[in-house]
Amino acid sequence: MAAPAPRKILVTSALPYANGSLHLGHLLEQVQTDIWVRFQKSRGHHCLYICADDAHGTAIMLTAEKLGISPEQQIENVQQEHIRDSAGFLIGFDNFHTTHSQENRVWSETIYQRLKDNGHIASRAITQAFDPEKQLFLADRFIKGTCPRCKTADQYGDNCEACGATYSPTDLIDPVSAISGATPIEKESIHFFFKLPEFEGMLKQWLASDTLQPQVANKLREWTEAGLQEWDISRDAPYFGFEIPGEPGKYFYVWLDAPIGYIASFQNYCDRTGHPFDEYWQPGGDTELYHFIGKDIINFHGLFWPAMLQSAGLRAPSAIYAHGFLTVNGTKMSKSRGTFIKASTYLEHLDAQYLRYYFAAKLSGSVDDIDLNLEDFVQRVNSDVVGKVVNIASRCAGFLRNSYDNTLSATCAEQALVESFIASGDAIAALYEEREFNKAIREIIALADRANQYIDEKKPWALAKQEGAEQEVHDVCSVGINLFRVLMTYLKPVLPAMAEKSEAYLQCSLDWTALQAPLVAHALDTFQPLLTRVDPKQVEAMVEASRETPTVAAPPAAKAKASKAKPAPGVATAATIEFDDFAKIDLRIAEIVAADHVEGADKLLRLTLNLGEGADQKQVFAGIKSAYQPEDLVGKLTVMVANLAPRKMRFGVSEGMVLAAGPGDSELFLLEPHAGARPGMQVK
Ligand code: 2FM
Ligand code: ZN
Repeated sequence: MAAPAPRKILVTSALPYANGSLHLGHLLEQVQTDIWVRFQKSRGHHCLYICADDAHGTAIMLTAEKLGISPEQQIENVQQEHIRDSAGFLIGFDNFHTTHSQENRVWSETIYQRLKDNGHIASRAITQAFDPEKQLFLADRFIKGTCPRCKTADQYGDNCEACGATYSPTDLIDPVSAISGATPIEKESIHFFFKLPEFEGMLKQWLASDTLQPQVANKLREWTEAGLQEWDISRDAPYFGFEIPGEPGKYFYVWLDAPIGYIASFQNYCDRTGHPFDEYWQPGGDTELYHFIGKDIINFHGLFWPAMLQSAGLRAPSAIYAHGFLTVNGTKMSKSRGTFIKASTYLEHLDAQYLRYYFAAKLSGSVDDIDLNLEDFVQRVNSDVVGKVVNIASRCAGFLRNSYDNTLSATCAEQALVESFIASGDAIAALYEEREFNKAIREIIALADRANQYIDEKKPWALAKQEGAEQEVHDVCSVGINLFRVLMTYLKPVLPAMAEKSEAYLQCSLDWTALQAPLVAHALDTFQPLLTRVDPKQVEAMVEASRETPTVAAPPAAKAKASKAKPAPGVATAATIEFDDFAKIDLRIAEIVAADHVEGADKLLRLTLNLGEGADQKQVFAGIKSAYQPEDLVGKLTVMVANLAPRKMRFGVSEGMVLAAGPGDSELFLLEPHAGARPGMQVK
């Protein structure tokens, strides 16, 4: 029977805002998508993973202004950081572009023009809050004031964090612009709208078509049943985005050009590689299109986007795969608890594959939230991956290397057992296809248990001491390695680096399509350690490094929404502390006697600090690498927290902290005392 033709699949995950760092919430989605894409590739399909930064909007404009850089520079910096962090988690994008691109400008203008030509764009004047000082229209989240219900001061936008009341920003008592502090005025301007109600019939059909997960379709039906509203797709200058052709001073709203960014990034990929473009976006072809997203943005992808695509004469998505939010230790990620973990902080302490495995073990095809329980994380990875899967190979590899020329037996002693492992592949593949990764992992680990049980029963370590059992030891270990090969094939989408090392050892490719029969008389290469155990101390160090102490107040950069909330730099989280607590901190003047790069660390410098005569020198790892050349620091004085308990980091023990100010990265300034201060002096 001829193999079915490979499917042609295009996959996207949501475009992260170019306004802040990636955190583990973003990674949940990218890991889910990446596993699915790698799985499709392993099955022999043609599958492309396309993404980009979402680079437009007021928040990005304001962040750039605050940092004193252009928005273009801001999005460039963040894009580099996002690319680096995703790569650290082994996310295999085929293309990672930006929505602030020529391709996206052309596609946004084209689609807008088609919508307009079809009579799907309306325009009319609306009244909005306006900051007379900044000369800027204010979205709800940029207005703050006193809650009309409970009278708590300093509440943002349209809901009160203290009492939960929802209201219109015009109901706030003494409203002020969160950007300038000025009292907002009301001002009229012309806006452009996409006439969503005209798509009611089409959308109702789409919601009934089984394309969407049931919970998602239900939620979207609530909106269609409440009556669809026209969607405001324009914003007034000043705005960082694309100006609407023929409408000076009017810009496309970021959410209009963000999903178009999927098309534009794919266009960029096709232009770069010569891959065909049209068949993926024309209706009626044999290609497939999937969007992986968080459940907080289903209205954009499940209503506005299919309607826009239809009006523009483009294909509809084959499906939208929404996932739930990430919680850590059972609650929303929290900076004060140290559970708002940035991707880069995780990578400074732990191997990306641990988290990939843990997420896979928890993810399903539903929109349920996923909890990263840090104790369970350590236990699960150590027990399943290291204790069960790696163990199979490490139990057998030594015998094969020492006594059997690192070559597998000439025949397979347990043909039926190995074949039953291979036969499980179809059921496991069906689970991956449905994104039921947790069930797939359960099946795979059950097979690993069987493999270990087989080795336990045969006891090659005991047989090896018996005379005349040489062949049996060889056979048992060869079966063990064959079982390991099958398991690693199934785990490759989740653990790509470990699979690569296994491929080097096994001297064969670990793709589903290559899995037909046991390996016999097959030469192996040197066995190298595949994955070490998670050290709980590293998890603690990661949490400590993520714990944020309160800083100065500043306006929010984005509205918080569950754990996908983007960090709002500098937002006051300050609870006051007692003087006695403050008095516990021993601040000392320290002289930097040496500053060195730390191999493998992106952000850290190793500082050796002199705390005055008679005191031991201290070593501190400081996240200031992007702001300073080490040689410029030597000889400088700074301020150190001298009585912080030592923390073990991946690169060594850090015996304190030095104090620096600023938003981070290249904008960071070490505190330096006035002339006359000497090392060891206490800061009072
Ligand atoms: O919610 C977000 O983080 C958005 N930046 C996602 C955009 S997805 C797509 F539409 F571009
Ligand atoms: Zn209130």
